[in-house]
Amino acid sequence: TENRLFTVLVSDQMSEEGLKPVIESEKVQVIFENVLKTSTPLEEVDALIIRSATTVTADIIEKMPNLKIIGRAGVGVDNVDLDAATANGVVVVNAPDGNTISTAEHTFAMLASVVRNIPQANQSMKEGRWDRKLYTGTELFGKTLGIVGFGRIGAELASRARAFKMNVVAYDPFLTESRAEKNKVTIMDLDELLETSDFVTVHTPLTKETKGMISSERLKKMKNSAYLLNCARGGIIDEDALYDAIKSGELKGAAIDVYESEPAKNHPLAELEQVITTPHIAASTDEAQLNVAEQVAVEVLEYLQGKPAPHA
Ligand code: MLT
Repeated sequence: TENRLFTVLVSDQMSEEGLKPVIESEKVQVIFENVLKTSTPLEEVDALIIRSATTVTADIIEKMPNLKIIGRAGVGVDNVDLDAATANGVVVVNAPDGNTISTAEHTFAMLASVVRNIPQANQSMKEGRWDRKLYTGTELFGKTLGIVGFGRIGAELASRARAFKMNVVAYDPFLTESRAEKNKVTIMDLDELLETSDFVTVHTPLTKETKGMISSERLKKMKNSAYLLNCARGGIIDEDALYDAIKSGELKGAAIDVYESEPAKNHPLAELEQVITTPHIAASTDEAQLNVAEQVAVEVLEYLQGKPAPHA
C-alpha cells in the first residue's frame, strides 16, 4: 500500500490555490467534480472536500466504502450527516477559524447598510431617482447590539461594534463571566437580550437546539424599531415568522445572508423593502477562501497519511 494513490474528490467551488497541499502531493489524485455527478467510481474516493453547497447524506456516504475523511472548507457541518459518517468510520473535519474575520466584517457591513438604507438608496439612483427623504436612517452610536452565540465570530463582531461606540450584550449558554468581561460585553438571557437590543444578530451553528430558536413568539419580544440579522445559518430564525413580523410592523427590518433552503432564488424576504439580502457570501472573500481551503487541505492530507485529525 506504500505507493497507493489516494483519490480526493472536491465537490464544491473553492480556492485551488488553498488546495495546493493536496494538489501537489504525489500520493494524491484530486478530482474537481460534484459528488452527485462525478464520473469517478465512488468506491475509489478516499476523501471528500466540500463547502456548503453539497449535502452529504447517509446514502452518499454508504456509496463510498473507502471514504476516510470529509473536509469542510468552512465552519458549519450541518450539511453533513454526522451520524452516518460516524457509523461508517468517516472522520469529519472543518476549518473553524479561517473565515471568522470575513463573516464578522460582512455582518457589520450588513448592519451599517441596513440602518442607512444603502442598498435601497443605491438601487433608487440606478433607477434614475433622487429620493432623499425616503432614506432617512438611524445612528449606530449608543445603540445596543445583541449577539446571540458568542463564539469567534461573535467576539470579532463585538469589537467592531464597540469601535462604533455601541453597547454590546450577548447570549450564549457557554459564555463565561471572564470571557464576557474580556470582550466588554454584558451577558443576558435570550429573552432579555431580545427585549433590550436595537439590533439582534445570530452567530450560532444550526443544531437541534438552535433550529427555529428565533421563533414568532421570540420575535414579538423585540422592539418594533429593532432590526434582525442572520449571517450564520438559515433556519436559526423562523423565516415565515420573520416575514410576518416585518409585514405587520412588529420589526423594522432585517439583513439576511443565509436561508432555510439554498439556493434561495426569488425568496419572499428579498421582496420586502425593509429587508436587505445577500446570497450566502459572508465567507466569500479571497482571504477567507484561501484560509479555509488551505486548512482542510492540510488536515485531509495529514489524516490520509496517518496523522490524527485535529478538528474532528
Ligand atoms: C461556513 O460555514 O463556513 C460558511 O457558511 C461559509 C461557506 O459555506 O463557505
